[in-house]
Amino acid sequence: MKILVVGGGGREHALCWKLAQSSRVTKLYCAPGNAGIALTRGEKCGAVECIDITSENLDSLARFVRRERIDLTVIGPEAPLVLGVADRWEAEGWNCFGPSQRCAELEGSKTFTKTLLRKHGIPSAEFQAFTDSDKALKYCQDHGGPLVVKADGLAAGKGVIMAKDGAEAAAAVKQMMVEKAFGEAGAKVIVEETLKGEEASVLCLTDGQTIALLPSAQDHKRIGDGDTGPNTGGMGAYSPAPCVTPEVEDRIVREILVPTLHAMNREERPYKGVLYAGLMLTDAGPKVLEYNCRFGDPECQCILPRLKGDLVDIIEKIQQGKLEENGVEISSDPAVCVVMAAGGYPGAYKKGAAISGLDASGQVGLPDVTVFHAGTAKAAEGRVATAGGRVLGVTATAATLQMAVERAYQGVAKISFDGAQYRKDIAHRALKRQG
Ligand code: AMP
Ligand code: GLY
Repeated sequence: MKILVVGGGGREHALCWKLAQSSRVTKLYCAPGNAGIALTRGEKCGAVECIDITSENLDSLARFVRRERIDLTVIGPEAPLVLGVADRWEAEGWNCFGPSQRCAELEGSKTFTKTLLRKHGIPSAEFQAFTDSDKALKYCQDHGGPLVVKADGLAAGKGVIMAKDGAEAAAAVKQMMVEKAFGEAGAKVIVEETLKGEEASVLCLTDGQTIALLPSAQDHKRIGDGDTGPNTGGMGAYSPAPCVTPEVEDRIVREILVPTLHAMNREERPYKGVLYAGLMLTDAGPKVLEYNCRFGDPECQCILPRLKGDLVDIIEKIQQGKLEENGVEISSDPAVCVVMAAGGYPGAYKKGAAISGLDASGQVGLPDVTVFHAGTAKAAEGRVATAGGRVLGVTATAATLQMAVERAYQGVAKISFDGAQYRKDIAHRALKRQG
C-alpha cells in the first residue's frame, strides 16, 4: 500500500512514524514533510520520501496522487480539510483519511459549531455571533467582562482573545472586524462567556456511527513556565490527563461526543475521521471550548505512541464504517512530549540554527524516547537545522508519568541549538494532582 501523509510538523512526523510500523505499507510519502520525517524508516516501506508540495496545494497533491497511484492519503492539518480535500478525493475515487469539507466546518467556522451546539443542547459557553461590527462593539461595551472574542474562521490558533472587561473585548472586536487582523476569518466573530476550570483534550476516532475513544491529553499553550506569556501552537503535552477521570470521560462521551455526532448526522454531515474536542472541565461539568477536525499538535505526539495495533487497519475500518466501540487498544504507559522552540517564538524567530545532539536518524538514542521533528530542515554535511518556530517534540513513554517526564527531559538535555527554549514544567499539573 502506498500512503501519502499531508503536512510537515510534529504531528505529521508522529503519523509517519506510526504508519511506517505497518507491515501493509510499502511506500510512504510526506508533503512537504521535514528533516526528521525524511529520516524515518519502516522495515517494509524503507525511508519516508518527502515531496515538495505544501499541504494547501490541492491541485499539485492531486496530480501526485494520480501519478504515483497513492492508495491512501492521510491529512494532518486542518487547512486542506477545510478546503475540501476529502470531497475532492472522494469524487476521484481515491481514499482520504479526514472528514469532508462540511464536517471540517466544526473547526473552520466557530459560528457553525456554536450554533450547532446550542441547537442540540450540547454544553458549551453562552455566546452571541456577530456579522455587524457596530452591534458587536455595542454588545461588548454594554457588557461587563470578562469575555472571550473569537474570529469565526481559521486563524492559525491566534483568533481567540481573552478580554478582562467589555472595553478590552471591544478592542478585540475592532481588531478583528474593522482592522481585519485575521483577514476574512474575522469577518464574523463570536463573543462568549469565560469558562473556568481545567482544560483537557479528548479525541476520538469515528466512522460517523461508532466512536473509538483515544486517550485524553493536555496541551501547554503558553510559552512560559507556570502558564505565563503569550499563547503558542503548544509547548508540550502529556497523556493521559488525570483530570479526565473515568467518570468525566464517560460524561464527555455521553453529553458531548455522541450528541455532536448525532447532530452532525441530522444535519447530513456524517463525520469520518479524528474528532478533537477541546474541553473545559467546569463545576457544572465538561463544556466544549472548540472542535478540531484532526489530531492536535502536540497531543498527537503523545497519543500515537500509546496506540497499539496497525494504524492502517484502524483507518480502513473507519472508512468502511466498521469501527468497533473500544476498537482501539491503548497502552497503559503514559507519554510526555516536550517541545523545543526557536528563540523568540511565538514572536519573530530565526531559522537555520544548526541542531546538535541528534544522531544520523534524527534521534537521541535513548530507549522509549522519540524525537518528533516539527520545524527542521536538512543542512550541510547531513546535519539538521531549525526551520520553524516549534522545532522538535521530544517524546517519552514510561511506566509512570513521572518517569516519562524525566525521560523526555533526558532527551531534551542531549539536544542544543542557538536560542533553544522549552518549558521545564510539562505535565506539572498532573504530577501535582498525583501528589
Ligand atoms: P479555542 O481555539 O476556541 O479552543 O480557544 C483557545 C484557548 O482559549 C482555549 O484553549 C482556552 O484556553 C481559551 N478559551 C477559549 N474559549 C474560552 C472560554 N469560553 N472560556 C475560557 N477560556 C477560553
Ligand atoms: N494543540 C492544539 C491544536 O492542535 O489545536
